[in-house]
Amino acid sequence: MNALLPGEPLDEKARPMTVASGPPPAVEVLSAEKVFANGTRGLAPIDLAIADGEFLTLIGPSGCGKSTLLKLIANLIEPSDGRLLWWRGDFADVGQEGRRLAFVFQEPTLMPWARVEGNVRLPLELADMPRAKADPLVRDAIARVGLSAFSRHFPRQLSGGMKMRVSIARALVTSPNLLLMDEPFGALDEFTRNKLDDDLVRLWWERKLTTVFVTHSIYEAVFLSTRIIVMAANPGRIFRTMTIDQGQPRDQAFRDSPRFAAYCRELSTWLAEASLPSAAGAAS
Ligand SMILES: Nc1ncnc2c1ncn2[C@@H]1O[C@H](COP(=O)(O)OP(=O)(O)OP(=O)(O)O)[C@@H](O)[C@H]1O
Ligand SMILES: [Mg+2]
Repeated sequence: MNALLPGEPLDEKARPMTVASGPPPAVEVLSAEKVFANGTRGLAPIDLAIADGEFLTLIGPSGCGKSTLLKLIANLIEPSDGRLLWWRGDFADVGQEGRRLAFVFQEPTLMPWARVEGNVRLPLELADMPRAKADPLVRDAIARVGLSAFSRHFPRQLSGGMKMRVSIARALVTSPNLLLMDEPFGALDEFTRNKLDDDLVRLWWERKLTTVFVTHSIYEAVFLSTRIIVMAANPGRIFRTMTIDQGQPRDQAFRDSPRFAAYCRELSTWLAEASLPSAAGAAS
């Protein structure tokens, strides 16, 4: 491997799967694989531990199983074989000790007839939380994404980036411990995406929010992540892992730094390798 950052422990294939002491990993994927009903092998067996507080990004060619892995982590689908643990327990235990998941999709999927505040309040209403308790949480979540002045607006009165902010506020309002995002900013222009990335990295840092993020953008992956997993297709699997050893704050100065450029170059090379037919065809 062409090491652009000498001494960096970029390839973490040998990383231990579980941590014996300290806080439990948020999620452990234990030889989990996914074969769909039509016989498509979406994911080869995957082993992965997601540390508490980590910002983990999945990147790779289309069809390499990023969304499938994210849906397994969200328990939206079940593995065909292997298993997953959430904070060392079953998914049925999620919700205990205040451990919650939130999922943000690529489309903001807002209710058109409800105002911003109504959309953000929805998960709390579904949980039967009384209005008096919910309202301050809704106000706080809307303020965190910078939309306080728009809380009485309807979705049709918002830009694409603002709608995405509402979607993020709706995820944050439940105070999740695990935030799962599938290409949330993929449809936005680069300027808006950078702005939302800035906000997301701040929210992640403030809340120590374990995040699993899917993107096709090399720059976004390097800017946001503490660890990046490059996946390859046919079958979907982990190709390589990169640690982004950069503390806070992550801001424009980081984007402009030679270090950022070096990470992006390395990741770009890895993605090209992961997209080669030979990489895609090889069994994991
Ligand atoms: N419900 C399904 N039934 C059958 N095959 C599926 C299903 N969902 C996904 N697949 C297949 O599994 C593989 C992985 O799909 P997945 O959506 O996870 O890829 P992805 O990495 O998210 O791609 P993209 O970058 O295009 O979003 C693909 O070959 C896809 O066609
Ligand atoms: Mg996908």
